[in-house]
Amino acid sequence: MNLIKRKENVIDPERLPNHVGIIMDGNGRWAQKRGLPRYAGHAAGAKVFKTIAYYARDIGLKNLTVYAFSTENWQRPQEEVSRIMKVLEEFIDDALNTFEKEKVRIRFLGDLSVFTGVLREKMDRIVDATKKFSGLTLNIAMNYGGQNEIVHGAREAARRVLTGEMKPEDITPESFGKLLYFDDCDTVDLVIRPSGEKRLSNFLLWQSAYAEFWYSDILWPDFKPRDLDRAILDYQKRNRRFGRV
Ligand code: FPP
Repeated sequence: MNLIKRKENVIDPERLPNHVGIIMDGNGRWAQKRGLPRYAGHAAGAKVFKTIAYYARDIGLKNLTVYAFSTENWQRPQEEVSRIMKVLEEFIDDALNTFEKEKVRIRFLGDLSVFTGVLREKMDRIVDATKKFSGLTLNIAMNYGGQNEIVHGAREAARRVLTGEMKPEDITPESFGKLLYFDDCDTVDLVIRPSGEKRLSNFLLWQSAYAEFWYSDILWPDFKPRDLDRAILDYQKRNRRFGRV
């Protein structure tokens, strides 16, 4: 056994990606492989989500955005949709009991107008209760679509131009970026997608302009903290040029 950790295999805490996005994919296949209903995969995926989010905080990540439910996911069977909403609600209930200990700022990214009633109230409560924390910001993308987010920004820019608050030439990548769902959502440095798919699937389209991509065949419910380490290590070896030489 090699007890000496080679330097190139240790995460450099000074060069962590500022913002990591994770497409939590493979829950359904994980369940089907075990002869379980697909929703069992979402329940397993929710546990992993919690482990990875708190691990991300422990290693010092500042921003993590997870893709929990896309605008397209409503097309899944009603039973599956309600199970996903249920695991989300369970996560919020748990967070409402533990946020003072966990110290993670939680927000929801997406068109939240479709969520009403108890779930929406709980979302608002956890956002409000955790807004004081400055370590990890955890954005949970719910009813999220990258194209819809850009359209949301474009409509707001058009509205401001019509009212005279803004001139067309004031619309720049910097000012436009502040008209998206969050006015302070940093660009993404690293997008992680398990389950073997190599697509962005409408995730953080604007913010991922220069993101590095890391994918793996691991199904999300099998994803471990060491897989996040591997992705970050790989990221730290990349030469990011942002269009320059
Ligand atoms: C994609 O796997 C996963 C989803 C559409 C739902 C993601 C939801 C969770 C991980 C549940 C927990 C979320 C929170 C925030 C508590 P898939 O169902 O498309 O898998 P497949 O490609 O194998 O069918």
